[in-house]
Amino acid sequence: MIREYLVVFIVALILISTIMLLLHLFSGSETMESETTYIRGNIVLLPLPKIRKEVLSVEEALAYRRSIRSYEDKPLTLEQLSQLLWAAYGITETRYGFKTCPSAGATYPLEIYVVVGERGVVLPNGSFLEPGSYKYDPHSHTLKLVKRGDLRYELYRAALNQEWVLRAPVSIVICAVYERTTSVYGERGYRYVYMEVGHAGQNIYLEATALGLGTVAVGAFYDDKVQKVIGAQPDEHPLYIMPVGVPKKTYRISEQEIARYIEDHRRELETG
Ligand SMILES: Cc1cc2nc3c(=O)[nH]c(=O)nc-3n(C[C@H](O)[C@H](O)[C@H](O)COP(=O)(O)O)c2cc1C
Repeated sequence: MIREYLVVFIVALILISTIMLLLHLFSGSETMESETTYIRGNIVLLPLPKIRKEVLSVEEALAYRRSIRSYEDKPLTLEQLSQLLWAAYGITETRYGFKTCPSAGATYPLEIYVVVGERGVVLPNGSFLEPGSYKYDPHSHTLKLVKRGDLRYELYRAALNQEWVLRAPVSIVICAVYERTTSVYGERGYRYVYMEVGHAGQNIYLEATALGLGTVAVGAFYDDKVQKVIGAQPDEHPLYIMPVGVPKKTYRISEQEIARYIEDHRRELETG
């Protein structure tokens, strides 16, 4: 008799545990968890960088990279934003904190901001990142909210009304603190900073291409206005705005087309 009670008791226990587990999985506690997983007050804990198996080869990313100025009305995912920022200026060496970009004397003069539009970045639970300007910290791979609100219109005005800055769900703004490099290299440090921003920009271009996103390097803007819009520090000088979005049209070229082009030009060489 006691044995039968024991069996019923154990079966009931298993049933109750299973039901509780199912309830936990489907009750939305998962959703609550993912919200707090990524947002801690003013700080966004970005999903950790993935060094994924290549989706595109380096050569494909180079061949398919194009300046894209026309985007779908779609958000970026937090994971895409995480990968773009890591590619731009993320950590790739843990002893000295070296980054994806080469940097003269490892002085790392760049500071990266992100302007997130209304419904510009979707979180894994389907909610959206608060619109505003955020500053990237490569070491903790986090974003810190600097200014609240959809700043895209102001950024677009500061960028000589370039429509793509208004339409992109997100714009990455690369700033430089010249002093970090010029204090080591003097006047020559300025050119080193300009070279480095080019590296970071190309990293963003290639990562965007690999993720199926589109971007364009925007250099035409009023520095002081952009600085104010994003809430940068007085010594952080904006050098590039890179709007990023889901492209309306992706660019592709074949090896054959490139080969034909090169051969035509070789023929021109021969015929003088
Ligand atoms: C330093 C620099 C500044 C640029 N500024 C702008 C800009 O203000 N607006 C824009 O639409 N494109 C800008 N571009 C993108 C160029 O127009 C683009 O790279 C060029 O047309 C070649 O096209 P591709 O990038 O598709 O190869 C800039 C590019 C560089 C390198």
